[in-house]
Amino acid sequence: MKNIILLGAPGAGKGTQSERLVAEYGIPQISTGDLLRSERKSQSALGQEAAGYMDSGKLVPDDLVIRMVEKRFAEKDCAAGFILDGFPRTVEQADKLGEMLQKSGKSLSAVINIVVAEDILIKRLLGRRKCPACGANFNVYFNPPAQEGVCDVCGAQLEQRKDDNEETIRERFLVYQNQTQPLVNYYRGKGLYAEIDGEQAADEIYSRLRQEVEKLCGQG
Ligand code: AP5
Ligand code: MG
Repeated sequence: MKNIILLGAPGAGKGTQSERLVAEYGIPQISTGDLLRSERKSQSALGQEAAGYMDSGKLVPDDLVIRMVEKRFAEKDCAAGFILDGFPRTVEQADKLGEMLQKSGKSLSAVINIVVAEDILIKRLLGRRKCPACGANFNVYFNPPAQEGVCDVCGAQLEQRKDDNEETIRERFLVYQNQTQPLVNYYRGKGLYAEIDGEQAADEIYSRLRQEVEKLCGQG
């Protein structure tokens, strides 16, 4: 079974590496950030409530996020495993996740922390661009599109995330340090925690990540 948590600061590459794990193992990525952004797009009550927190770089309240994850876990595709990206983010969320898994007779297989220095994270976040039409990802500094602001794949205008500005990034780092970093000690010592250097090229990081996944999750 591959029940995986990817830990890492904003911009560490959780989304980038999750995509690769999805492609290789055929298990779903559960990104609470993506789920919340799609709630906002559909202007649901949850999306409207979450918006202010997200735009200021604060965490959305635990109860809202936990309910959203519970709902997602109930979907069939999670039965064979999952990659949690951006959840849990507080000790409260981690406790709740433990309860949820226990209730359904499951357990975590791996918690992998992608570690990157802050100056690199800032550049990655400021440079990130996404195509709203086809979902292709670009980065002004690390993977620029051929024509500035235009998607190489489908020609649509690229977008920048609203929370990818310097002020909000600073707040997201603080929040990460204060509320999410404690999860390292929470999971370390349970025999399922590993750290990988997230400052290499994405392919190299993935090959280390894959090794850790194989080691911690076994062949199951
Ligand atoms: P969320 O969407 O989870 O954002 P985040 O944690 O800040 O992380 P990011 O998505 O910014 O970074 P990433 O690690 O996925 O990096 P990526 O692969 O894109 O959360 C957003 C907000 O939602 C939160 O602030 C909060 O308000 C709310 N929220 C979400 N979950 C919550 C929860 N559980 N509880 C409460 N609130 C919650 O990479 C970044 C860039 O770098 C990309 O451009 C990429 O192409 C590039 N890149 C990646 N890897 C490399 C590499 N190796 N070399 C060069 N460039 C690279
Ligand atoms: Mg992400």
